[in-house]
Amino acid sequence: MSDAPRVIAIDGPAGSGKSTVARAVSERTGLPYLDTGAMYRSVAFSALRAGVDPDDAELVANLAAGMELQMGTDGTVTVDGADATIEIRGPEVTRAVSIVAAIPAVRSEMRSRQRAWATERGGGVMEGRDIGTVVFPDAVLKVYLDAKPEVRAARRSKEVEDLSYETVASDLARRDALDQGREDSPLREADDAFVIDTSDLTVEQIVDTILEALG
Ligand code: DC
Repeated sequence: MSDAPRVIAIDGPAGSGKSTVARAVSERTGLPYLDTGAMYRSVAFSALRAGVDPDDAELVANLAAGMELQMGTDGTVTVDGADATIEIRGPEVTRAVSIVAAIPAVRSEMRSRQRAWATERGGGVMEGRDIGTVVFPDAVLKVYLDAKPEVRAARRSKEVEDLSYETVASDLARRDALDQGREDSPLREADDAFVIDTSDLTVEQIVDTILEALG
């Protein structure tokens, strides 16, 4: 038997349902869950807190390399000893995150932390943009979730009460373009990914489909 970690990769754009689905798949399989987007958000948080320009690749990469990051099983995120759980979801971090996530040195640092996380635990349900394509190309199952842009924007809009639908929709489109257009590990479907359009499906239907595919 191989000692390779048993990874279920769940990739896709914002609002495709990744987090809800990945958490449910984690519960049903017993595999631990990792939100890799929260790791990139933590880098953006760390830069903003230090007054570092998110465009300053070298300074941001240094911060990422030295950052003490704890991803709690209950969803809490601690950055250099400070609880950042709420702030990493805020509008400033959301605006800056795709910029820091495009920095190659930041990506390579996060990739090695993600691989170490899965290796230590023997596997996991890992949610992100590049898990199936780059971080774990040998994942036991690669799922790519997608949904119509207006459905994704409506879902996100429900989560952030203080921003208008229009603001959320244009921010989402801007992030999609940055995530898909960057040179280093852009968001795309892996060739062998199981693609699900979640626009008209319930969470239960999506999770059941994934578990069936897992066999
Ligand atoms: O899933 P999310 O919206 O919390 O992700 C935040 C940002 O992090 C997203 O705009 C793209 C980036 N990201 C990435 O580049 N690679 C990942 N594996 C996960 C997220």
